[in-house]
Amino acid sequence: MEKQIGKRDFLGFSHLNAAKIVELFDFSLFIKKQRGKATGDHPYRPVEGKTVAMIFNKPSLRTRVSFEIGIHELGGYAVNLEGKSIGVNSREAVEDIALLLSRYNDAIVARLHEHSVIESLARHASIPVINALTDLSHPCQILADAFTLYEKGLWNEKIKVVFIGDGNNVANSWIELAGILPFHFVLSCPEDAEYMPDGEILETARKNSASTIEIIHDPLEAAKEADVLYTDVWTSMGQEGETQKRLETFRKYQINAELLAVAKPSAVVMHCMPAHRGQEITAEVMDGPQSIVMDEAENRLHVQKAVLVKLLNHEEYRKFHLTHRLDNVAKKLIS
Ligand code: CP
Ligand code: NVA
Repeated sequence: MEKQIGKRDFLGFSHLNAAKIVELFDFSLFIKKQRGKATGDHPYRPVEGKTVAMIFNKPSLRTRVSFEIGIHELGGYAVNLEGKSIGVNSREAVEDIALLLSRYNDAIVARLHEHSVIESLARHASIPVINALTDLSHPCQILADAFTLYEKGLWNEKIKVVFIGDGNNVANSWIELAGILPFHFVLSCPEDAEYMPDGEILETARKNSASTIEIIHDPLEAAKEADVLYTDVWTSMGQEGETQKRLETFRKYQINAELLAVAKPSAVVMHCMPAHRGQEITAEVMDGPQSIVMDEAENRLHVQKAVLVKLLNHEEYRKFHLTHRLDNVAKKLIS
């Protein structure tokens, strides 16, 4: 029987609200502190004995390593499945993969091309499914990015996050988050429809009216007074055939010293990585003092561990929140 895609999956933010996102941030802080306790005399292993199947239909460094290590540190075991070897919807129907993995495992982490395929996986699996990136969205990334700003004390309802580049999966997840957690999001992308974000995600986020969401095509105009300058590759996985065209189209959508100069002096620079120095970001900025790219990459680990505990041991997650009082900053964010 098909299950509804819902709370037990993490395909995006639509089943969460601001309070639940802040809860995840607070649990991520706690998880980060427990890291030393992953081994030793008193290890923190809330998913002891659980197994997670990981399907990667696209390349990955951060997501794959952080999930595999995270599952291990929490006491679980990760099974890595290369998309090519299991052949999602070629060797075997996604429905059968979902049903079968549900017999062996406690959760599925999947990086796939079409978003509809991960939705189908989630509908047919009786275990939670976590989106590790699709062509449409990358929620694990954006949760870790927003957490990084929260952890540094930079997050508030007025923070201006300016995404420079393609209106792609990463931009879509920022917009989805803006539909739920209040902040000021600006996307600066070329005007052509193919570089604009997903229309449905944008419409839903704007309807929710939690945040100010702007699209400003001129990057210098968009970056004015930014608190955060954010970018991603110009050519996403699966678009390699368009590389040359995109190199030309995106030339002015580069985070460089000139762009950084119009942001606030205190602005930080983020990039989900992999990065191409000299294309979407200069080496000077990527490796400069305002860059927090390695902190955000590290936080993928802590935030994904928090998501795993929430989905695989909800009792533990609930127990934490029963004993942990939100601080004033967090209360303000969700009030
Ligand atoms: N940012 C990110 O998801 O990196 P990987 O593609 O290396 O997993
Ligand atoms: N937009 C990029 C993100 C990589 C993490 C891609 O899909 O390739």
